[in-house]
Amino acid sequence: MTDTSNPIEPVAPASTEPDPATPGEEVGSPDVAQASPGGPGFDTDRRQFFRRFAGELLTGAGQVVGVVTELRDRSAAEASALLGQPTGSGATVVKSGVPSAGAGADSLDEAGAEAVTPAGFRTPFRFESDDVLLLIDQRRLPDQLVEVPVRSANDAARAIRDMVVRGAPAIGQVAAIGLALTAKRAAKAQAHARRAILDGAANILRTSRPTAVNLGWAVDRLMARYEEIGKLSDQGREIADALWSEAMAIVDEATDDHGRLAEAGQSILPAPEGRPLRVLTHCNTGPLACGQFGTALGIVQAAHARERPLHVWVDETRPYLQGARLTAWELRQAGVEHTLIPDMAAGPLMAQGQVDVVIVGADRVAANGDTANKLGTFTLAVLAQRHGIPFVVAAPLSSVDLSTADGAAIPIEDRPAIEVTELRGVRIAPEGTNVRNPAFDVTPAGLITAIVTEEGVLRAPYDRSLQDAMTRRNGRREPRRPYALEPAKPVGAAF
Ligand code: MRU
Repeated sequence: MTDTSNPIEPVAPASTEPDPATPGEEVGSPDVAQASPGGPGFDTDRRQFFRRFAGELLTGAGQVVGVVTELRDRSAAEASALLGQPTGSGATVVKSGVPSAGAGADSLDEAGAEAVTPAGFRTPFRFESDDVLLLIDQRRLPDQLVEVPVRSANDAARAIRDMVVRGAPAIGQVAAIGLALTAKRAAKAQAHARRAILDGAANILRTSRPTAVNLGWAVDRLMARYEEIGKLSDQGREIADALWSEAMAIVDEATDDHGRLAEAGQSILPAPEGRPLRVLTHCNTGPLACGQFGTALGIVQAAHARERPLHVWVDETRPYLQGARLTAWELRQAGVEHTLIPDMAAGPLMAQGQVDVVIVGADRVAANGDTANKLGTFTLAVLAQRHGIPFVVAAPLSSVDLSTADGAAIPIEDRPAIEVTELRGVRIAPEGTNVRNPAFDVTPAGLITAIVTEEGVLRAPYDRSLQDAMTRRNGRREPRRPYALEPAKPVGAAF
């Protein structure tokens, strides 16, 4: 594990070597996130950044419903105001999941950009072209918005391992796209060589981080598609097309699922009288972690979009500081009232009656409902139970692993000691101090009030409700068309 994964240490610029196994050169590095939009720091680079991402916001939400449609329209309205374009509500939404670079944004007028505060969440990746995926380098947020290109599965694996992109649903989507890019690059290879390339790439991706099940789930979906065609098939182009469409399906389904989840979560929010709802959350579960609306933060954002008064307590999330660096950044963009707290402040706040509900995400939910999530989640669940506060997990079914019986079987990632011993490159513990740095913990199902999924709010016993939700989800999804050689879509047609 490299030290560059430490957000509390200055991050070395990504390599510019042309090696396709390296998430290569940065794409622009405007110092943007802290400056107030429209204020002195709102420079051309920043306008261009938001122009591009506004373009993506307008194209990423074609199939969602209810409050999420409101979110989409709101983002569209905000984006159009930002861009100085009279965009009708929802009028420019394109159904397909991922646009080509700019997706129309480049033709938009910059006029008026400085007059409007951009709001709405941003997705952590976009396509520069059919061959290059750009990831926001999440290690650098909130200080800098920097993008890192991914051209292959190796690039994607490295970006995931080094935390350029993180969050269970997001790494699944990026892994799928990386593998599809490699299949495209291998389209003209001999069948045996292609098999070696794709099997190797899948293994590298699966092992890039161990806890979030979305990663293996996404890779397995693409490899199942490959096997369906025949691993020794000489139809390289068709294989590339099939893997590409599977990757796009994963991204599109996530958009739909997370939207449904956000809507389902509205029913579980307590409704305190005469004052804002007080939510406590941990780690980062917004679009940066999930690709689209977010899970736990998606519920919060949907409530905010419905103009429900609320306030979010944001755990800083030691040691990697996803809460301080990313959740605070996303909530600020979204205009949601929030207060950053040291993790250990959660207990006293609960004891003082200042928390109505705890909502967290999940990296893997076992068949019995035991849930692995960011270190500190288990402690929150114990505290919530002690104070009679609902403890809610928000997770798409892609984070549920029915093949893992319970929490004891979930692999927990150990992360580098330097994340604990240093802060932004400054050592804070005596040299040589022993460190244990587990990235996740497991909350037993018995402490979980409900699990919110795209199939609704699930209650204990979770072994049954999770299984039922899976069955409903599988029934709802249109069965995928069996692979057929004709008509073959050109690679990248989904864009
Ligand atoms: O180590 P990370 O940042 O990849 O951890 C993942 C998370 O963001 C959290 O555990 C989150 O609650 C689940 S992913 C929506």
